[in-house]
Amino acid sequence: MAQLWGGRFTKETDKLVYDFNASISFDKKFFEQDIEGSIAHVVMMEKQGILTCEEKDAIVKGLTGIRRDVEEGSLSVTEEYEDIHSFMEANLIERIGDTGKKLHTGRSRNDQVALDMKLYVRGQVLQVSDSLKDLLETLLSIMENNLTTYMPGFTHLQKAQPTTLAHHMGAYFEMFKRDVLRLGDIYKRMNYCPLGAGAFAGTTYPLDRSYTSSLMGFEGPTINSMDSVADRDYVIEFLAALSTIMMHLSRFCEEIIIWNSNEYRFVEIDDGFSTGSSIMPQKKNPDIAELVRGKTGRVYGALVSILTTMKGLPLAYNKDMQEDKEVTFDAIETVKNCLVLFNGMLSTMKFNKKIMEESAMKGFTNATDAADYLVNKGVPFRDAHGIIGQLVLYCIEKNSPIDHLSIEELKKFSSLFEGDVYDAISLKTCVEKRLTMGAPSKKAMEEAIRMNKEFLAHM
Ligand code: ARG
Repeated sequence: MAQLWGGRFTKETDKLVYDFNASISFDKKFFEQDIEGSIAHVVMMEKQGILTCEEKDAIVKGLTGIRRDVEEGSLSVTEEYEDIHSFMEANLIERIGDTGKKLHTGRSRNDQVALDMKLYVRGQVLQVSDSLKDLLETLLSIMENNLTTYMPGFTHLQKAQPTTLAHHMGAYFEMFKRDVLRLGDIYKRMNYCPLGAGAFAGTTYPLDRSYTSSLMGFEGPTINSMDSVADRDYVIEFLAALSTIMMHLSRFCEEIIIWNSNEYRFVEIDDGFSTGSSIMPQKKNPDIAELVRGKTGRVYGALVSILTTMKGLPLAYNKDMQEDKEVTFDAIETVKNCLVLFNGMLSTMKFNKKIMEESAMKGFTNATDAADYLVNKGVPFRDAHGIIGQLVLYCIEKNSPIDHLSIEELKKFSSLFEGDVYDAISLKTCVEKRLTMGAPSKKAMEEAIRMNKEFLAHM
């Protein structure tokens, strides 16, 4: 049991207490961040005359030596230390002697861990954003290849109006684009350096906090030292963004599961991304989509967990905050894995274009356009709606689409129907006449694709 704080104590810590309190089993993830922060700290202290140049060099050499040895495998981060900070300091002192004891000058583990967590989360924000970019590229390529792949659009999971696969994928493009933008906002807001806040009240050493923060690529130092060690808002914001990403993935998975069902057969998931049944030989299950949908609960759980941990904490640091790590690490890993797997599944998935198009032709998805046809001939919309409603009822009884009726049959409902109605309510017309910005016509979608490409180019 290696502790940094034995001086005041007369008794050994109970073993159970030690284990309960220790965090090295998970905060060893901060190995790199802890070294980066310590190097910035000593470089600044030398500039400020708190350490001599020799002392700074010795500490930097010691820390980079630890990094090298761990990377090469000759040293490992073992659990005999309370946390990663203790591991680092103990190893440094062992390596370079008493000079190592100066590393922690003007620093507390409170601002140290606040920095490590921030550096870690900051890096992960970028990694998740990169994974989202891969997914956006997949979506864009499906869009470009399916501008006239017609399919039904749904409301209440009932066929509503025809659309295209490009349009449907474009909806997800917007969602994941917002996720990328959200991560960018979080990055900007969190990018302030807490190091130098000390335990919570700053320090009497003449630290140059602006310099330390610039060494690590921060926008500047945090403004209030009490807030600096007590703030985990950025973790909560990141978990909220991750939860939103999972919500989007989960909705997408739900649709893929429906589309992949025997009843729909809109898509076929690649064998490499499907699984079988141990009893039913015919089965090919969408397990990856189901698992991604399922793991959404776990990421929401992390968000609620930290919100709950933080809600009753008095200022400034409290040990409760050590609980921020494990769930956050788990949520990040989960989202990164889900994004990679989902992207793999989506990019290898086959769309059964013929089945999708046939489905769009059934279910009266052109009923709105049939009403609009009458409106164009002078019928008020509400009356046209009523006429087409009766027409649909007739078609249901006859088991026929509207455009399979003869003109004589159509005229029974309104004398205004003419031969041009068939073209006016054809699947192609229904889609291609929808030209408003954001609508499914090829023309409108080409503009959306142009904008999306520009977004990706500047990401
Ligand atoms: N392991 C601790 C954490 O994760 C490090 C900070 C400890 N500070 C303290 N005053 N006990 O929060």
